[in-house]
Amino acid sequence: MSTRVTLLASEKPEAATMTKYIGVLTSGGDCPGLNAAIRGVGKAAVGSFGMEVIGFRDGFRGLMENRTVPLDGSTLSGILTLGGTILGTSRDKPYRMLIGDKEIDATEAIIANYKKHHLDALVCLGGGGTQKNALYLKEKGLNIVTLPKTIDNDVALTDVTFGFDTAMGIATEAIDRLHSTAHSHHRIVVVEIMGHRSGWLALGAGIAGGADVILIPEIPYDLDRVARAIRSRSRGGKPFSIVAVAEGAMSEPDAAAFRAAGKKKEKAKTKAEKKTSRATLAAWEAAHAGNTMRLAKQLEELTHLESRVTILGYVQRGGTPSAVDRLLATRLGTACARLIQDGAYGVMVAARGDGTEAVPLEKVAGKRKLVPLDHPWIRSARLVGTSLGD
Ligand code: F6P
Repeated sequence: MSTRVTLLASEKPEAATMTKYIGVLTSGGDCPGLNAAIRGVGKAAVGSFGMEVIGFRDGFRGLMENRTVPLDGSTLSGILTLGGTILGTSRDKPYRMLIGDKEIDATEAIIANYKKHHLDALVCLGGGGTQKNALYLKEKGLNIVTLPKTIDNDVALTDVTFGFDTAMGIATEAIDRLHSTAHSHHRIVVVEIMGHRSGWLALGAGIAGGADVILIPEIPYDLDRVARAIRSRSRGGKPFSIVAVAEGAMSEPDAAAFRAAGKKKEKAKTKAEKKTSRATLAAWEAAHAGNTMRLAKQLEELTHLESRVTILGYVQRGGTPSAVDRLLATRLGTACARLIQDGAYGVMVAARGDGTEAVPLEKVAGKRKLVPLDHPWIRSARLVGTSLGD
């Protein structure tokens, strides 16, 4: 069962009855809004609830190594608009931490440091991987609360994640600018947009930027259909096209091969089988990383239009958060402090409507929110004549 938590603007700060100690860390890829969220948690925790807050550097690695930063009036000030994370981040997992060339299980060290600081709760700001790691630590007995961040917007059971709006704005502006060259040089410009295995970012920015073709992982594409859509534009007097391709988008045959590799990984039982299937999938993904370049070449051959590639990469994750992300991060961060004050742990603070909702980590971890095929964005993209490659 999830609990509804809504902070009312009229609520007065409460006097703390007993000081609570909380730790905060950021894990996974950085994104705009992380500092706004740290500030939201910290300012509400310290200022409104009289808690003591420390930050751990570089995600779970800093927690294992006990590398801390005080989060108080001075460190929490002036960070609302800053990109990145003042705490640093990493993609380390508590139970599989790379030290030199060895993987170790850092669970015990993490629990020891949690206890050393007499923490009442640990706040983990992260995406899908972080939700899984958070559940793991919850099951080891730690009080955990998480916030959903990622430019990919693929965390389950939250309306949206912070970082997404800013990244979508950046990618949209990039598409706007790419139109100039595509139009002037009569070229196809294939623009690769992040999103991991989901298409939210490419779809949102593609629609907002007026891309002519949008390819997302949820809809495996047929290369000939994409080429046909571009040729038909040329015949209609528009010998240029913008193709917004999500980094995880795949052609129909590639998607089938990827699904098969994924199933093998799911079926793996022994440690050795799991390791081999993980390595196979990783090798497959590494090979797929060149997909956008291949796609541009294939489209050039099929349409006889010059093609160019622009990979937006980390530009989408950098810089100051949008107003929407600052508001969202502050809403979630302050609700998180309130939950800790109320002793509600083992949950992710999800965005729900205008408020927030505490969702048990068990329901979130291991799930991915993909774009539903009947999503209104997909319907409207089709209605304005955008090709989705199917
Ligand atoms: O999850 C955010 C994200 O930027 C994805 O869109 C992308 O696939 C991934 O992180 C890139 O990861 P890294 O920071 O390891 O390059």
